[in-house]
Amino acid sequence: MDDSEFRMRGRVSHVDDEAGVVYIELINGSSIRCDRNAGDDLVLGDVVLVGTGTLEVERAPIEIWPEVQWIGTVRAILDAEIVVAIGDRLRIFPKSTTLEFAVGNSVQGTDAYGPFRLLSETPIKQYEISIGEQIDISQFKTAPGASPSFEDFGGSPDIVERAAELIEVPLKYHEPLLKINARAVKGVLFTGPAGTGKTMLAQIIANKAKAQFYQIKGPEIVSKWLGASEELIRKVFEDARQQERAIIFFDELDSLAPQRSDESHEATRRLVGQLLTEMDGFDKTQNIVVIATTNRPQDLDVALRRPGRFDWQIDFMLPVEADRQAILRTSSKKLEVAGDLPLAEIAKKTEGWSAADLTAIWTEAALLAVVDDRDAILPEDCYGGYERVLRHKVSIDASRQPGSTRANGEGRS
Ligand SMILES: Nc1ncnc2c1ncn2[C@@H]1O[C@H](COP(=O)(O)OP(=O)(O)OP(=O)(O)O)[C@@H](O)[C@H]1O
Ligand SMILES: [Mg+2]
Repeated sequence: MDDSEFRMRGRVSHVDDEAGVVYIELINGSSIRCDRNAGDDLVLGDVVLVGTGTLEVERAPIEIWPEVQWIGTVRAILDAEIVVAIGDRLRIFPKSTTLEFAVGNSVQGTDAYGPFRLLSETPIKQYEISIGEQIDISQFKTAPGASPSFEDFGGSPDIVERAAELIEVPLKYHEPLLKINARAVKGVLFTGPAGTGKTMLAQIIANKAKAQFYQIKGPEIVSKWLGASEELIRKVFEDARQQERAIIFFDELDSLAPQRSDESHEATRRLVGQLLTEMDGFDKTQNIVVIATTNRPQDLDVALRRPGRFDWQIDFMLPVEADRQAILRTSSKKLEVAGDLPLAEIAKKTEGWSAADLTAIWTEAALLAVVDDRDAILPEDCYGGYERVLRHKVSIDASRQPGSTRANGEGRS
């Protein structure tokens, strides 16, 4: 071949041993057919250079073919083919005559060539867990009796009452409700700002109803479990079905249930799908209530809001003054205090504070007391604690202002 001749990149797309010909797909989309011996012993997937005038074929390094390479896990070895999981899809490739792979191997490959290199004997994990491993769901279960009680929840009597009605009553009176044949409450959505007691109230109700509580945190699923999240959800529901009563609590559901738009992650889609399947599959005899929390109900997949799914909603709000005083009272009940704490005054000054902000006052106050070598909280520690949380809040709130160049603060929630 004349070195000045223009050559085109091509790739062997089919080898017909009987006829002694190879088919080469050129990079411009057209194909040529040439003698098997034209390039020495070409095999499927080989990259070649083809002289445009002479049609002479010359083997070239695979790297010059502009092809996306992938990493996959071998799932099955058949007689003549190999099945590889690439991302969420299974693909089938002709088995290589020279390379041997085993099920579970991580392999590098291209669409045309199939797997061509062994990367690791075992699956390379993108997430902490992968298919085939056991998921220990005990880590999602809260031990009964470990959570606070209604007496620890200050203020917001309407919310407490509604939550008890929607969750505790159905769990407790499961049998009589079955007899009445009413539509069961399956899913309740808790919405509202951070630190307003959503998680706390759910735990209290589980405790009161003597229900097994499962807590699954959305962000944790996304970071740790995404590869196995369907399996995880399936197992949690399976375990819950064996309990007399159960509450499955999905914290920060919005982080794992974006609108199922095209760009939303395939794995999240499957996860939401699995959640819907489980909820739709409840039969009436199962005594399970699913609670999900979100700060952004508008971001949830609409499919989650259909009747028979999360069709009940309780809105948690920032506490009003009377609620703030009640929160300060209940959250200080177990503390060692000396003298009358200025709860009413602090409640007046803390417009816009969440319950979590208010209870943080006690942490700060206790720190002030011990540094001062005392074993009880004094009114002055209470003021001091308030001042400290206020300063902290001001700096966090400032960092959240639009246009602020600061990062999102070290928000406590
Ligand atoms: N009504 C309340 N009475 C007393 N303490 C409360 C109350 N609500 C919340 N707290 C305190 O605030 C802390 C945070 O509350 P919780 O975690 O339930 O808030 P959340 O609404 O789930 O917040 P997030 O949206 O950040 O998850 C609790 O651990 C508890 O100490
Ligand atoms: Mg919470």
